[in-house]
Amino acid sequence: MNQMTDLRKTDNRPMLRVSDLTHRVSLETDTLTILQGVSLEINRGESVAIVGRSGSGKTTLLGLLAGLDTPSEGTVELDGSVISTLSEDERAKLRARRVGFVFQSFQLLPALSALENVMLPLELAGMESPQQRARELLERVGLGERLNHTPRQLSGGEQQRVAIARAFASDPVVMFADEPTGNLDNRTGQAVSDLLMELNREQGTTLVMVTHDEHLAARCGRQLHIEAGLLTEPETAGEPEI
Ligand SMILES: Nc1ncnc2c1ncn2[C@@H]1O[C@H](COP(=O)(O)OP(=O)(O)OP(=O)(O)O)[C@@H](O)[C@H]1O
Ligand SMILES: [Mg+2]
Repeated sequence: MNQMTDLRKTDNRPMLRVSDLTHRVSLETDTLTILQGVSLEINRGESVAIVGRSGSGKTTLLGLLAGLDTPSEGTVELDGSVISTLSEDERAKLRARRVGFVFQSFQLLPALSALENVMLPLELAGMESPQQRARELLERVGLGERLNHTPRQLSGGEQQRVAIARAFASDPVVMFADEPTGNLDNRTGQAVSDLLMELNREQGTTLVMVTHDEHLAARCGRQLHIEAGLLTEPETAGEPEI
């Protein structure tokens, strides 16, 4: 375990602290409340699955936790910074340094190679040796032979592995994943979730993941249930099955 990982795990402040989060959107005739009074804390190094029915508010919650959007009410503190009151620019900077995101639909740039897709956020963040770092990560996810392939030339599972390499490349403290195996067949999904869990452990990242996959949710240390915008956490948070 490197020193960075050690530091991440020994800091006692929670990685995420959410108080009384409410999110509403205005529709033509009325207002829809998507999340209501959500409070939670997630500690450093924890892996947490967010589960719940379609439309219950999981993606909305993840977006607010990651600072992709700001809540109507309440606060989100990520790694000691209150992100819910930052401007769009400030949130973008904070995300670039501390947050990784894996989406269901991979979200790779179609005109760029695997290597360029992983390098881009590193270049934008002004990190040193972006190409070397991107290569290392792609080799780590088993795509050392696919560096110059564009997304169209890769299978779904390979594209998601590129997206995982990209998400971890900037050395984030917290990784968010929204249905990372949702577009993959069972076997490929299993390989992708193995990789996500392994990298999370190796890098000492805190993982917050939305998933419909019960097996994947059971591999997380804790499960949060969300129902019609309200959070309900089961009392017994068992040990992860791994
Ligand atoms: N910008 C928006 N404008 C209007 N309604 C929205 C908006 N964003 C989300 N919603 C609504 O809020 C509810 C929660 O959406 P969300 O995407 O968070 O659900 P989810 O739990 O991720 O569902 P799924 O499992 O299908 O991905 C849904 O009813 C959705 O239609
Ligand atoms: Mg969703």
